[in-house]
Amino acid sequence: MENLKIPNHVGVIVDGNGRWAQERGLSRSEGHKAGAENVENLFIYMINRGVKFISAYVFSTENFKRSQDEVKYLMDMVIWKFKTLSKKYDKENIRIIFSGRKDGLRSDVLKVMQDVTEKTKNNTRGTINFCLNYGGHAEIIDATKKIHEDATKGLINIDELDENMYAKYLYQDLPPIDLLIRTSGEMRISNFMLWQASYAEFYFPQTYFPDFKEEEFEQALIEYTKRDRRFGGINYENKNN
Ligand code: IPE
Ligand code: IPE
Ligand code: MG
Repeated sequence: MENLKIPNHVGVIVDGNGRWAQERGLSRSEGHKAGAENVENLFIYMINRGVKFISAYVFSTENFKRSQDEVKYLMDMVIWKFKTLSKKYDKENIRIIFSGRKDGLRSDVLKVMQDVTEKTKNNTRGTINFCLNYGGHAEIIDATKKIHEDATKGLINIDELDENMYAKYLYQDLPPIDLLIRTSGEMRISNFMLWQASYAEFYFPQTYFPDFKEEEFEQALIEYTKRDRRFGGINYENKNN
């Protein structure tokens, strides 16, 4: 298909690592490792295709319900993976940021997150927002508390609160999500970026995340290009209206 539309902000709910491993008789950890390897290349490819922002859901506030061993493996992986990942992304002029609650995360994990953010902060070719210990409800509650605090101090006038002002209080200042991809066939949002995804186009491929590669992303772009985004209005140029 010619003239593919390129979304400005892509959300990726990384899902299916466990089932990918299970199908191969491997441990869940092996699945997470394969998923992390795929993150490394896929996101660079997406930026090369012209995507400016990627938000990747890699650990939800609810994922702490998993076994201690699995949580430990994922947190340890953040540490070793981000050391190499940040070098690679830095060379590609890609900025890395994080969204989520700091409370509940290990100090060595927080340290790596801080280092990676600092190292890549001036990069301009694209931004990857890793959602770690992230929950959409938590983000809205945290923003509301900060708004209350600023209003109490007299720093803002609550009567002037609108969508734009509210958005400034979220974890990161990001544009709306245009395309939201959740791999593995699950068709739910699982508390991911509820505010930012309000008008996102949803795409639910069956592929498990470790197998969601460049060709699968091209399929997502083809599907996205076909969508008629109306934002509540009417697109008079579309013959179907
Ligand atoms: C996604 O894969 C990674 C995380 C949520 C950390 P899952 O671990 O959810 O994989 P499935 O859904 O069990 O296959
Ligand atoms: C959502 O995946 C969270 C992440 C991808 C990090 P889950 O696998 O945890 O979601 P549910 O439990 O199937 O809804
Ligand atoms: Mg899952």
